[in-house]
Amino acid sequence: MNIQIQKSVILGILFSLLFVLAACNTEPAEVKKELSGNNGSDSTGNEDRSMTNGSEKEDDLPAEVPKVHLQKLDENDDVKALQQVLNEIGYKLKENGIFDDPTARAITDLQLQFEALMVTGIYEENTSRMLDELIQDNDHEFEPGKGLPRQAEEVTTSNGSIILANPYDQLALVNKEFALPEDYSPEDLVIPDIPFPFEEDLPKKQMREIAAKPLEEMFQAAEEAGLQLYAQSGYRSYERQDAIFASNANQHGEEEANTFSARPGESEHQTGLTMDVTSPDADFGLTVAFAETAEGKWVKEHAADFGFIIRYPEGKEDITEYQYEPWHLRYVGEKAAKEIMEQEITLEEYLGQS
Ligand code: DAL
Ligand code: ZN
Repeated sequence: MNIQIQKSVILGILFSLLFVLAACNTEPAEVKKELSGNNGSDSTGNEDRSMTNGSEKEDDLPAEVPKVHLQKLDENDDVKALQQVLNEIGYKLKENGIFDDPTARAITDLQLQFEALMVTGIYEENTSRMLDELIQDNDHEFEPGKGLPRQAEEVTTSNGSIILANPYDQLALVNKEFALPEDYSPEDLVIPDIPFPFEEDLPKKQMREIAAKPLEEMFQAAEEAGLQLYAQSGYRSYERQDAIFASNANQHGEEEANTFSARPGESEHQTGLTMDVTSPDADFGLTVAFAETAEGKWVKEHAADFGFIIRYPEGKEDITEYQYEPWHLRYVGEKAAKEIMEQEITLEEYLGQS
């Protein structure tokens, strides 16, 4: 090969390389343009908006639907990918890689629009599959914000508690600062198949489906350990809590009553994620004596394996603002429950709200 031919071969190869590189650059740029319809500019005025603010690289490819379990407080690249995918279908989230409140709200909003999904604000397998379908095709009737409309501004109760914008959240913090909406009643209440010390099918036998199954499994495990665990009180409507608190306030005065009884809207029982449990050795009562029974000790050790926490632990009264209640179990899911129970912290501390 003479020098002239060699030169043109080298030039040819360089040209082809440049073309391939240019082509590689074109596709993501086009995808990005398409995405900007969702990512948009500030024109939406949405505070959750993530701008493509220069930190996003030109060659970012469309995100893949993550195939891992994600929930509030998680912080990693999978969360970022999830936020990117959610933005691709029309949400307006900050792509910060932090599973924050707006991300949980978007997941909840999506779940509320598909009957087959459990509404929890947790990103799990079924939600992932649905998200995959939404990305692949547009046959589904779906509109961001249709399930859980965004509140224009924070709303408070007459005694100053903030009303939760997402009462469906499995990790919802309900306490003297954060209340449930008066009209919130979970739609997926069921009666768990466990022993109660009474026969009638009262509403307080109910729990949300997401918590009922793990509770059944916990009762089964307790039985296998030779224990006699009973459920005493689960779901309570706002109206029922109103009546209970009024009666307690009447007997003890409002301030004292509020150390063991929640004001309406501020009771976790309204979430449908809570069950008070007891045992024959505690005379089926909801008293501190339950902690000393074999059942009470077993519950403290094993509740987290089934996703439950002792919501008002001993020694944490200044944080929870309620007395010690070894009988009051709250479902938060296994991941959060294990961290909370192992670290001996409260839900307030776990969520950084203490
Ligand atoms: N006993 C708890 C604090 C409630 O009333 O919900
Ligand atoms: Zn309770």
